[in-house]
Amino acid sequence: MAKIPPHIIDDIMQTARIEEVIGEFVQLKRAGSNLKGLSPFTDEKTPSFVVSPAKQIFKCFSTGKGGTVVSFLMEKEHYSYPEALRWLADKYGIQIPEDKPATPEELAAISERESLHIINDFAKDHFVENLHNSDEGKKIGLSYFIERGFRPEIIEKFQLGYCLNKSDDFTKTALDKGYKKEYLEKVGLTKTKDDRSFDFFRGRVMFPIHSVSGRVLGFGGRTLFTDKKIAKYFNSPESIIYNKSEILYGLHFAKGDIIKYDMCYLCEGYTDVISMYQAGIQNVVSSSGTSLTREQIRLVKRYTKNMTILYDGDAAGIKASFRGIDLILEEGLNVKVVLFPEGEDPDSYSKSVSSTELEDYIKEHQQDFISFKADILLETEGDDPIKRAELIRNISHSVSLIPDQITRNVFVPEVAKRFNIKEEVIWSEVTKERSNAAEKEFKEAQRKQNAADTIAHDDPYAFEPNPMEEVQEIQQLVEVDDPNEYDLMRIMVLYGPLAIATDHINEEGKKESVETSVAELICHELAIDELVFDRPVFNRLHQLILDSLGENTLLKTSYFKRQEDQEIIQFITEVEMNQHELSHNWVTKHNIYTSSEKDKLQQAVMGSIYAFKSSKVEKRIGEIQTVLKNKAGDISDEELMDLLAEQVSLEQVKRMISEKLGRIVIR
Ligand code: CTP
Ligand code: MN
Repeated sequence: MAKIPPHIIDDIMQTARIEEVIGEFVQLKRAGSNLKGLSPFTDEKTPSFVVSPAKQIFKCFSTGKGGTVVSFLMEKEHYSYPEALRWLADKYGIQIPEDKPATPEELAAISERESLHIINDFAKDHFVENLHNSDEGKKIGLSYFIERGFRPEIIEKFQLGYCLNKSDDFTKTALDKGYKKEYLEKVGLTKTKDDRSFDFFRGRVMFPIHSVSGRVLGFGGRTLFTDKKIAKYFNSPESIIYNKSEILYGLHFAKGDIIKYDMCYLCEGYTDVISMYQAGIQNVVSSSGTSLTREQIRLVKRYTKNMTILYDGDAAGIKASFRGIDLILEEGLNVKVVLFPEGEDPDSYSKSVSSTELEDYIKEHQQDFISFKADILLETEGDDPIKRAELIRNISHSVSLIPDQITRNVFVPEVAKRFNIKEEVIWSEVTKERSNAAEKEFKEAQRKQNAADTIAHDDPYAFEPNPMEEVQEIQQLVEVDDPNEYDLMRIMVLYGPLAIATDHINEEGKKESVETSVAELICHELAIDELVFDRPVFNRLHQLILDSLGENTLLKTSYFKRQEDQEIIQFITEVEMNQHELSHNWVTKHNIYTSSEKDKLQQAVMGSIYAFKSSKVEKRIGEIQTVLKNKAGDISDEELMDLLAEQVSLEQVKRMISEKLGRIVIR
């Protein structure tokens, strides 16, 4: 695919609002000048995920991830850099000029992941086209949807389509376009048997399944035959872009209203979601045939802690789902339940009443899950005294899963009342269940620990120190932990374009004060002593800055934020987020207390430069000492003398630098 021109990247970065984009994935609340929410990268309980609308960056304090709106999409949606930019361009209506359909050659060059996305997108368009513009599609597919009562704008919104009942209509079109057969098979759109390829979904109406951000990850295809031997739905197989247990059908369309109403409705299938949505209840999702997974619950939990399950009135089906629903309790969500009248599901019921009647019905019939479960069990099995004891244990188990004690406290008396039994009995049962679970968890942790230890003991080399590893470890320490490198680069990117006054000896040998930019000064000072950074990302930044100075431009932080290099973005985010700490550091580290801001900057810059230089000098002295101590016997006298001489001169430099630093004492 064509490269995105730099001025378009600028355009995208200036238009995109990080708080809007992240707001689609995370429920954000105002916290001072920032916004705060639960990290989408972990399963945390207290919010540590911060978005700064002023700086247009985010920082996740529990994982350390941070960056721009582009980094967020790369992290969260696993987009590549251009994919993230294209997503934003699409959202904000920015045209990318050379954005024409990919040619087969260009296609071959992009990643498999992106190829699968492109193929699904192409298939979705093809099926939509069939539905509306082919004779067969109109006569069979579209008329089916219309007969079911789906309105045209809903059919369009959910991108419903039709796969022709010809053996390989889609596959052939896709192959002609240059899409690889291997990829068509990977996303499950094409099957091959004895060298013959055919469309997996032929003759079915198609429901595309979207990611949270709206990309097509897979399909459900419903047959229009009533033959009981044919599976009603075919679904896309799992692939690198489609992981069933981590996707909820409809979430892309629902997330806005889930946040708005702080509530998510859960129903059973594609048609339930679409019908509820059409009836005006748009915070609705379904788990599409599979039983609800923990990942799916966590997906919802990012937007709300309130879930209401919509059931059709079939007791057997409801009981089968109880185990999955215990998971919801365990995840700390509040679960409510609505039971539709016998023989009705959300799809049929929503069509038989008006929107207000539907809303009223839900309001009046919603019940908390625990008492609902008690009702169902009592109703079906309550008479038998032996079974009754079993039921009490069953319900107590569900209550014991609720992580929040206050919520548990609310349910215990209710359950007691319902079973007409003393509260203490339920309490003791819940307590027992909880300590059992805790013990099990502890044993499991111990088992894992033991297993790990055993492996360590079985490894004959486990306690042999590996010299290479040690060296790498030391190198890593130096690379990551040199605070002086960090400090200097921090000042360079934050204050690079600002002017400061420095002394300069002119041609007549007189001292004069000249204005120079912070970036220029630092680069100049590094060049004098031929110093570079140890940490690779700092070297890349240094190079960027040198290039810009060569072109007489001064780089602002906003420039760095447009880089593709995510390590650079990560660093810029870190320093911007900690900006207040910076001045604090200057004060404590360099002991700088001056009145005017400009003086302070100048001293801070000089202080950081000298601290950097002195740390490099110290590092070199350390290296020399190591050689002298360990390898003195291995090197020639001449080399030895050279090293000693270097050490002496470095010690001198070190003293000089400490004098320049004035108040700063160097060890
Ligand atoms: N499902 C499936 N495979 C099947 C049957 C069902 O994957 N063979 C999934 C689908 O996601 C379906 C959901 O289970 O949407 C609920 O099944 P069902 O109630 O039978 O289907 P509906 O979507 O209600 O379809 P319809 O109303 O058209 O019969
Ligand atoms: Mn149905």
